[in-house]
Parts: sequence; C-alpha cells; structure tokens
Amino acid sequence: MRVRRFCTEAMAAVYAATLVENVIVQKTSPVLGLATGATPKTLYRQLIDFHRQGLSFAQVTTINLDEYVGLAKDNPNSYSAFMQRELYDQIDIDLDHAHMPDGTAVDLEQECARYDAILEVHPIDLQILGIGRNGHIGFNEPDASLRRRTHVVTLSDETRVANSRFFEDKSGVPRQAITMGLESILRAKFIILLAFGREKAHAVRSAVAGDISTKVPASFLQMHPNVTFVLDDAAASLIGRNATV
Ligand code: PGA
Repeated sequence: MRVRRFCTEAMAAVYAATLVENVIVQKTSPVLGLATGATPKTLYRQLIDFHRQGLSFAQVTTINLDEYVGLAKDNPNSYSAFMQRELYDQIDIDLDHAHMPDGTAVDLEQECARYDAILEVHPIDLQILGIGRNGHIGFNEPDASLRRRTHVVTLSDETRVANSRFFEDKSGVPRQAITMGLESILRAKFIILLAFGREKAHAVRSAVAGDISTKVPASFLQMHPNVTFVLDDAAASLIGRNATV
C-alpha cells in the first residue's frame, strides 16, 4: 500500500487525475470504477480539464460503486445525476458504456445480479474510492461480515447523517442503497483511495495501519497488491510521515 500526501486537495487531485490519465492512455478499452460524494469532485474537475486539453474518454467504460434505492436517475440526489452533472456532461464518454446500479429496479436482487454480470464482463483497471468516516468503501458499511458481490445494504445512521448535507434534511436520505461488494472492489487491478479533511483522519489511520477487520471495511485494502491512498495533510494527520507500507 502506498500513501501519498499533499498540502492541498487540489494538488492531490492533480496527482490522482494523472494516474487515471495514465490508465486511459495505456489501455485500449480502459475500465474505470468510479465513486460519488464530495471527495472525487476535485478529481473529476481535473479530468474535465485534461479532456479540454485533449484526453478522450470515448473508449472508456465506467462502473460506479453504488446508488441509493428509490431515487430515479433524474432525482438530483441520485448518484446517476451526480455523475452526469460532475463528469459525463463535460466529457466525450459514450453513455452506453457508463454503468450505474438502478435504484428504482422493481426486483433489486435481479438488479444486483445484472450489475455483477457487467463486472464480470468488464474487469476494472482502476477503481476510485472515497472513504466514509466509519471506514466504509462504496456503501459497504462496518458489520459482522461483509458481502462479496453487489447487494442491497441498509445504510448506517452515521452514513445517513453524513450524507444529509446533500439533502434538505436527514429524513430525505434513503435508508437503503445498492453497492458493489468488497470482493468486486478488491478485484480491481489498481485502486486509488482519496481522502480529504480532518474528519477522515481516523478512518484513514484504521484503514492504513489498523487490524484488518469487517468493522473497518477499508482495512481490507491492505490485502490488495496495488493500492495508493491519495490524501491531503489533514486526512493524513494521524498516520506517520513514513506510512508507506
Ligand atoms: P464523501 O463520502 O466523499 O461525501 O465524504 C465518501 C464516502 O462515503 O465514501
């Protein structure tokens, strides 16, 4: 596991975007696993900037980590709308190659199976992750056991409170989501976890230096051969300068 820390989120985003660009230019049909939330926004802005300078996403397939159950694509709080707004509207991606769980599917189990089939056909070259304050990745919440594949999850109270900043109030935050499972995340050939701000410092420390535990889903990244944590100083404040393992 590599840890790269930067003075500012903006500098970290440039570094991460360069890693993404490398994958896009090196592969003929690159597959990116993408994340939503506040954290990847600066990365996406940087990628849009690279696109304006000539980087093409025409051959890129994207597979997003998760989606709220019950929010339609055109609901501004859906992750589908997020991706459209924050990235896809501003790059040349073929939207038929941009995959997202459908949180409005009538049969959610079937929807999870459909998503797993997409993941089988498109092995992820580079997975972008954020991290929850409770150590979740995707919406794999701390629990007694973690699921391997795509599944419906009941969101923890902590996650609903954290995400309520995007909604009018907590009661508007859906109680369930569809998320890729831990094994699917760990199958990615290369993983970049982004974390910015002091409120992520505890989760980052547990993920980087704590025991591997289902109580901190991100700690399983320690078992992956090719992970880079890209942090600002605040998120890295509880790990040593020489935290690279
Ligand atoms: P955030 O969420 O980027 O909005 O902080 C990250 C996460 O929950 O994975």
